[in-house]
Amino acid sequence: RKDLLGLQDLTREEIDLILDTAESMREIIDRPVKKVPTLRGKVIVNLFYEPSTRTRNSFELAAKYLSADVQSVAVAQSSVQKGETLLDTARNLEVMGADLVIMRHSEGGAPHFLARRLRAGVVNAGDGIHEHPTQGLLDLFTIRRRKGRLSGLKVAIVGDILHSRVARSNIWGLLKYGSEVWVAGPATLLPPGLEALGVHVTHDLDEALDGADVVNVLRIQLERQQKGLFPSVHEYARFWGITPQRLAACKEDVLVLHPGPMNRGVEITSEVADSHRAAILEQVTGGVAVRMAVLYLLLGGGGTGE
Ligand code: CP
Repeated sequence: RKDLLGLQDLTREEIDLILDTAESMREIIDRPVKKVPTLRGKVIVNLFYEPSTRTRNSFELAAKYLSADVQSVAVAQSSVQKGETLLDTARNLEVMGADLVIMRHSEGGAPHFLARRLRAGVVNAGDGIHEHPTQGLLDLFTIRRRKGRLSGLKVAIVGDILHSRVARSNIWGLLKYGSEVWVAGPATLLPPGLEALGVHVTHDLDEALDGADVVNVLRIQLERQQKGLFPSVHEYARFWGITPQRLAACKEDVLVLHPGPMNRGVEITSEVADSHRAAILEQVTGGVAVRMAVLYLLLGGGGTGE
């Protein structure tokens, strides 16, 4: 396999391999000297057409920890602004020596388009509302570390499911392990068709939270709302926000996740986000480990299956 495009495409065995590799990588992050020579001589390019803090910087640090050369394209200052196409941009980076292009794009399928046309590998760092595979993997990594397993759990994904590539990658990953996936949100933010995949869909937040082992709280994606947010931010916080009161009704050992960036006081309160039940910063550290594993397996570790 030269590309990582989505969790839909990966087998459970491939995901296990990535998560097991990430456990070894996680140890490197805790060392005083966070550097191994594994990917020396490899060239990785970050090509982000949408803003990012966690994904772009964690890929960049993951590459550096593995001694790869990494270049982050400043798209806003690049010839993309003069109208250069995605394919021309990527081909120019490839002939400069890129072995792997990590890309985020507002259009679903953009990484798949490039992967078919480049010799270099392509990693999807988020494509429109389609998938965000490394976020899905780091969520699985965090759940496995905290809960000791990925099977037989009830996982509630709450909020703006409609616009969430994170939700889709979580759903594909968790279903492969036989966990029970619930999605809950206002009717305006729930897409059709999820029941057909075996997902439980509800408008009743209490039903989703009841007995949940994990609650993955999603960000309200104000930038992707077509006609203004309904419900309003205020209504959303009141009816769908994860508050200490709602958490009190959950299992005592419920694990709260959020992919970031958070709208504090909207989908999650600070009391919950900063509580011991939440693993939001652990997710971020796990994200570096997972991305190190992905880079290693695609560029240096003998492939993930094909
Ligand atoms: N979770 C996530 O993708 O964060 P960024 O948008 O900051 O990369």
